[in-house]
Amino acid sequence: MADKKTFYITTPIYYPSGKLTIGNAYTSVAADSMARYKRSQGYDTFFLTGDDEHGLKIEQKAQEQGIKPQEYVDKMAASYKELWKLLDISYDKFIRTTDKEHVEAVQKIFERLLKQGDIYLGEYTGWYSVEDEEYFTESQLAEVYKDDEGNVIGGKAPSGHEVRLVKEPSYFFRMSKYADRLVEYYKEHPEFILPHSREKEMINNFIKPGLEDLSVTRTTIDWGIPVPSDPKHVVYVWIDALSNYISALGYASDHDELFKKYWPADVHLVGKEIVRFHTIYWPIMLMALDLPLPKQIFGHGWVLMKDGKMSKSKGNAVYPEMIVGRYGLDALRYYLMRAIPFGSDGIFTPEDFVERVNFDLANDLGNLLNRTVSMINQYQQGQVAPVASEQDEFGLDLQKTAAETIADYKAQMDNLHFSQALDSIWKLISRANKYIDETTPWILNKEEKKAELSRVMTNLAESLRLVAILISPIMTQSPVKIFKQLGLDWDNAAQKDLNFGGFGWDIKVTEKPQPIFPRLKNEEEVKYIKEEMKKAKPKKQSRRQQQAQTSDNFITIDDFDKVKIQVGQVLSVEPVKGSSKLLCFQLDFGNGQKRQILSGIRKFYPDESQLLGKKVLAVVNLKPRKMLGMESQGMLLSSEKDGQVKLAIVGDEHELGADLG
Ligand code: MSP
Repeated sequence: MADKKTFYITTPIYYPSGKLTIGNAYTSVAADSMARYKRSQGYDTFFLTGDDEHGLKIEQKAQEQGIKPQEYVDKMAASYKELWKLLDISYDKFIRTTDKEHVEAVQKIFERLLKQGDIYLGEYTGWYSVEDEEYFTESQLAEVYKDDEGNVIGGKAPSGHEVRLVKEPSYFFRMSKYADRLVEYYKEHPEFILPHSREKEMINNFIKPGLEDLSVTRTTIDWGIPVPSDPKHVVYVWIDALSNYISALGYASDHDELFKKYWPADVHLVGKEIVRFHTIYWPIMLMALDLPLPKQIFGHGWVLMKDGKMSKSKGNAVYPEMIVGRYGLDALRYYLMRAIPFGSDGIFTPEDFVERVNFDLANDLGNLLNRTVSMINQYQQGQVAPVASEQDEFGLDLQKTAAETIADYKAQMDNLHFSQALDSIWKLISRANKYIDETTPWILNKEEKKAELSRVMTNLAESLRLVAILISPIMTQSPVKIFKQLGLDWDNAAQKDLNFGGFGWDIKVTEKPQPIFPRLKNEEEVKYIKEEMKKAKPKKQSRRQQQAQTSDNFITIDDFDKVKIQVGQVLSVEPVKGSSKLLCFQLDFGNGQKRQILSGIRKFYPDESQLLGKKVLAVVNLKPRKMLGMESQGMLLSSEKDGQVKLAIVGDEHELGADLG
C-alpha cells in the first residue's frame, strides 16, 4: 500500500509573557481547523505548536513574580496547554524552547553556521530602552533626537521611554549573501508567501533596500541558549525561535524519523507582523543548512478592536475563557473563522459577535435542526427513510446546492479560506431552510401525502448530516450534537460519507429536539462582554502599592529572614550614561566587601554628589542583574511618598556591613 500523503502545519510559538487573548487563539484555531480538515481528507497530519520561552521579557516577568525563569515558564506552558485543551486544539506536539532537545539542536545549528562562515563575530550597535529592556533599530523609534549635523543622538522607544545607543559584541548572520537566491526562490514558488500582497511587501521594504546582517546573540542577557564555543553570548531570539519547526521533529538528533517524514512543512501560519522573519530569515537559515524550504508561509491579519490593537492595559482585551464559558466553544471558533477573512484584519465588536451567534448559529443552523428533528418526531414517529432516488424540482435543487457546497468548501479549505468555506456551508443551510418553506411539510402532513413528506424529511436530515461533517474541522462540538439529535453516531465512519445520499439512513430518531445554540438577549450580552473586558484591565499600581495591598496576607518571620539587608557607605556615585533614570553606586560594606548597585533614582538627586559618604541600606542577597550591560549586585532601600523617592540613609552609629533585622 502506498504511504499516506503527509501534511505538516505549525503555529508560531507564543511568548509566555501573559494570558493569551482571542487574538492569539485566532492563529491556533485556524491551524487546528486546517489540521482537522487535512486529517479528514486522509492526510497523515502533524500539527505543531508551543512556546518561545527565552529572552529578557520572560526573565523580567519571572523576577516580578519573585520566581526563577524556569519555574515561571513551566507555569505558563502548563496554562497554555490548559487553554488549548479548552479550545480543542488538537496539536500533535507542544514544543518548548527550553526542551533539552531543542537547546541541543539550536547549539548544533549555531556552531555549524559559525564554522561555515555564515555567522561571524562583530559589534552590535542599536538603541536600547532600559525600561522596556528592549533593543530597537533607528527606524523603530517613535522619536529621534538629532544634533546640528543631523546625526541621531538619542530618541524615544514606541513606549515613550528614552533609548540610548549601545555597542556590544554580537554574532551576526550574513543574510546579504543569500538575498539573490531568496528572490529567485520567491519567483519560482509563487505560492510560497500568501497572501500575495505580503510577498511584494517583503521585496520592496526589506530585500530591495539591501538585507542587513542579523544580530543573533547578546552578551547582556542571561536567560537564553548559550553559544557553546563562546558562552558569554546567548542566542538572541530568531535562531532560537525559528529552529523550533525542525527541532520539534528531531532534526540534528539521533532520532530524526519525524523530520524525515514531515519536513518540509506544508504551511507555517503566522501573524502578519512576523511574516518577515518567516519569509526572509527562516528560508535563509534553511538554505545555509542545506535543507528544503517550507512550502508555504501564510501571514494572517489581526483581530483588532474598535480602538486598535487588543491590549490588557487599554481594557479592550477579550479572553477566550470568558467567551467559551458563556457562549460555548463553537461560538468562538465559528466567529473567529467566519467574521475575519483569513489574511485580512478584522474588528471584534461585542455587537457583531452576539449578532452572528444569533443570526447564523441560533437562527439559521439551530432552527434548521430544531424544525427538522421536531417534524421527524411529529410526522413520522422518528423514522427517517433512505434518500429517495426520484426527486422533485426542489429536491433536485437542494441536492445541486449540496454538491456545489461540497466542491467549493474543499477548494476554499485547501486554500485556508475558512471564512469563504463557511459562507458556502451557510448557503446550503439557507437552501435547506428555504426547502422547508417550499415543500410546506405541515400541509403534506395534513393532506396525508406520506411518501412526499418522508422524502422531504430525509432530504432535510441528509442536508444536516452533510452540514455537520462540513463544519466539523472548525466547530468541534456541534457536529456530535447534530448527529445525536438525528439518530446518527459520530464515531461511525460510514455515516460521514461526504455526498448527498452517500449514507443510506433508514434510522429511527429517538432524541427530542434541543436547541444547540440558545438565542441570546442582544443588549444584555453586549453589556456583559463589555463589562468583562473592563474587568480584565489592570489597575495601575506601583510595586509598593501592590505590596501594601497584600498586607493582610501576613508574611512569616521566615519570609523576612530570607532578605539580607546590610549597611553600606557610598564610595562613589555617578549617572549611568544614556539613562535618564539610573545612578551607579560603588559601596563599601566593611571588611573589604565592595559592591556595585544601580538604582533608578537619578531624577530625585540632580546633584548626586550629596550622597557621597552617606550610609545607606541595601538588600545584598538579590540575584545580580544586568542593566545596560552593567551588573547590579543588590538593591538600595528607599521610601516613596507622592511620587517622591528618598534613599534610606542611616546615622553613623550603624556599622558598615551590619545586618538589619
Ligand atoms: N514568539 C514569537 C513567534 C516566534 S515563531 C518562531 C511571537 N510570539 S507572540 O506571542 O507575540 O505572537 C504569537 C502569534 O499571535 C503571532 O502570530 C501573532 O500575530 C498572533 N497574535 C497576537 N495577537 C494577535 C491578534 N490580536 N490578532 C491575531 N493574531 C495576533 O511573535
